[in-house]
Amino acid sequence: MAQVKLAVIYYSSTGTVHGMAGRLAQAGEKAGAEVRLRQVAELAPPEAIAANAGWSQHFDATRNEPRATPDDIVWADAVLFGTPTRYGNVASQLKQFIDTLGPQWSKGLLADKAYAGFTASMTEHGGQESTLLALYNTIYHWGGVVVAPGYTDQLKFVDGNPYGVSHVTGGNNDTPLGDAQLAALDHLAERIVKIAAKLSRVE
Ligand SMILES: Cc1cc2nc3c(=O)[nH]c(=O)nc-3n(C[C@H](O)[C@H](O)[C@H](O)COP(=O)(O)O)c2cc1C
Repeated sequence: MAQVKLAVIYYSSTGTVHGMAGRLAQAGEKAGAEVRLRQVAELAPPEAIAANAGWSQHFDATRNEPRATPDDIVWADAVLFGTPTRYGNVASQLKQFIDTLGPQWSKGLLADKAYAGFTASMTEHGGQESTLLALYNTIYHWGGVVVAPGYTDQLKFVDGNPYGVSHVTGGNNDTPLGDAQLAALDHLAERIVKIAAKLSRVE
């Protein structure tokens, strides 16, 4: 069977979602996929970035990493989108990238693929679920297949998010990913690769 193509497309200001994306890419490769790991472009004004030490540091450290293009989504059989939670919603940087995909959408090039999402927020009830559900609105419009992790493995009862994978960064925005989140990220990558392989199987 041909190798599943997995795109991990994300935005991250201060590195949390970046770390989650890297783990998903590794797990996707382990599951046998060909992986593209891509950040979307930063759109915030330089003065906003400069005012936050963690943001400036992450921006400088990742400025030469590959940027997402529309072709990355068209190429993929499976797409994992990552975004920090912004007022319970998708970050504008990721949304802006998504909003450039009208030409691909109108040609049906975004349909019939497997999609899922991952996010981080500062607080436990800070809107992770609403962020993932908002992200999935776009997938329905594309005719994509949302591959929610659900409670399809015992480990999902530990991280506790059936909508995707999420992490709480804490008040100082510096709580590292724990075993539960790492296991949930590995599970999401394995699951989407498995489902994408089933979706593209020739009958
Ligand atoms: C403008 C803005 C809005 C935010 N909104 C929320 C929120 O609604 N709930 C929450 O818990 N955290 C919120 N946060 C905190 C971020 O979600 C958190 O810092 C982020 O997940 C860290 O991800 P990153 O390190 O990849 O940038 C917000 C942060 C910013 C800058």
